[in-house]
Amino acid sequence: MTTASLSGRKVLLIVGGGIAAYKALELVRLLKKSGAEVMSLLTPAGAEFVTPMSLAALTGHPVRQALFMPEDETAMGHIELSRWADLVVVAPATAGLIAKAANGLADDLASTTLLATDKKVLLAPAMNVRMWLHPAVQANVARLKGFDGFHGVAVVGPDEGEMACGEFGPGRMAEPAAILAAIQGLLAGPDGRPLAGRRAVVTAGPTFEPIDPVRGLTNRSSGKQGYAIATALAELGAEVTLVSGPVALDAPVGLNRIWVESAREMQAEVQKHLPADIAVMSAAVADWRVDGVASGKIKKAPGGPPSLALIENPDILAGVSKPGKSRPKLVIGFAAETSDLEANARAKLSRKGCDWIVGNDVSDDVFGADGNAVTLFTKDGGADVWPRQSKTEVARKLAARIADHFKA
Ligand code: C5P
Repeated sequence: MTTASLSGRKVLLIVGGGIAAYKALELVRLLKKSGAEVMSLLTPAGAEFVTPMSLAALTGHPVRQALFMPEDETAMGHIELSRWADLVVVAPATAGLIAKAANGLADDLASTTLLATDKKVLLAPAMNVRMWLHPAVQANVARLKGFDGFHGVAVVGPDEGEMACGEFGPGRMAEPAAILAAIQGLLAGPDGRPLAGRRAVVTAGPTFEPIDPVRGLTNRSSGKQGYAIATALAELGAEVTLVSGPVALDAPVGLNRIWVESAREMQAEVQKHLPADIAVMSAAVADWRVDGVASGKIKKAPGGPPSLALIENPDILAGVSKPGKSRPKLVIGFAAETSDLEANARAKLSRKGCDWIVGNDVSDDVFGADGNAVTLFTKDGGADVWPRQSKTEVARKLAARIADHFKA
């Protein structure tokens, strides 16, 4: 059995109704022991078998029980909860829950969460042997497994044996240790952390180019897209260095953030952290800096405002892309354009010498916003259009593409 650590991984456990629900408590204990963070959701039927108190005490988090509870929605809404998780586990997964999920029914908290999640779902079925063998249940499970795509459904168990109802056959929920192993396989294995062992350097945010000790030139970049990319890469197991200009964002957990101000500082930090496998240069680097930064505050003078002489900043992306021993295997740049996205992005791709470029149309509301619409252009002529979605989703798509690239 695998003993991979689940440190930093987040599991949402949905506890359905059935005598096997008591084993869900042991599963929480094992998950916590292996380092995972667990939030739980208890169905009304599940609450007939285990108490919310037990789940809350073991997970260390409040337990969600109903779809419409204002206090829960203000803490972490159920949609948010389904996105928070790296994996959703249903244990026990009853015939009813499986049927709802297979048919897209969303009339309570558990089924709505299962429909809303963008993560893989692991089902640990538990039911009477006749129920499990019923063609309707088997068809529902097959249907769920057949939903291919970004996420998917995995099933662990059921085991064969004597059942609480006295009958014998398949239908017993898999043992907690076996469910844990399945979770580890999904989260800590090559499927869950395909970028384990890869190093990535990501730049994000604006740069700040001083004029004098109190003034400077900067831009409106919020850093949100770059931070989301750094986070998504770390979630897939990469060792990430995030070189960040001044932004108002917390450092994502599990990666190394380095603060910089000017383009030259950013460049120095990026170079210091090479070689790397992946470079994603998403910072909005100032094209120019002030030549001859004043050592004291420039005073208002009768002669009128001073004129600032500007000189060009180094192009960090072009520098990183230069062929050589320390060139990352995959270099990705950004192209913010207000017109002719494809032509401009492709021209930038070849001018800078990078492998991929993420083109975004900034004529829309992008700076500081939570959403983004981008097209990924690759050196081999490929173009992938990702319509407007959250920056987190864009980041996860990009990270998944990067993982595919390295797998290939
Ligand atoms: O030339 P432009 O600024 O449009 O190019 C954008 C891309 O180049 C982004 O990936 C940005 O992070 C990178 N860049 C850089 N250093 C610069 C200017 C841009 O790394 N001085």
